[in-house]
Amino acid sequence: MTEWEALRQECLRCHACTLAETRTNVVFGVGNRNSKLMLIGEGPGEQEDLQGEPFVGPAGKLLDDMLSIIDLYRRENCYICNIVKCRPPRNRDPLETEQDACIGFLRNQVALVRPQIIVCLGRIAAKRLIDPEYRITRQHGQWVRKGDFWMTAIYHPSALLRDVTK
Ligand code: URA
Repeated sequence: MTEWEALRQECLRCHACTLAETRTNVVFGVGNRNSKLMLIGEGPGEQEDLQGEPFVGPAGKLLDDMLSIIDLYRRENCYICNIVKCRPPRNRDPLETEQDACIGFLRNQVALVRPQIIVCLGRIAAKRLIDPEYRITRQHGQWVRKGDFWMTAIYHPSALLRDVTK
């Protein structure tokens, strides 16, 4: 079994937090595992939970449109996943404890993809991965070098759907 498959299997079996009790599917990630770019959201929503793939609901459609403008396509040249791999009930923010329980999977995914660029989709991912004090309104689009990666955050596509002035 490849390292990727071992990681995916472990993730699919995970019961490290209570989100496992209410999930339909674990949403591990999608895309080219050799991409230079990783996009990281906060956690699966309803459609993602049902289909087992990140960003397949309305926010995902917007994300795909945004990416296509710069010639990025989820199955070709980027890798998309989330901080937590199981849907938080009623789409609430994932709890710190849930993030802690899940973050190892993401760390392993990042280590296997070895991207040059990581883009956080929204506040939750930016706070977890860039800076706990991250202010998405003030800092979105700013680039920071962290270890081997260039990182930035953009508004979450769901926030863009809610507020067209963003
Ligand atoms: N929002 C996220 O943060 N991730 C998804 O996969 C879907 C919606």
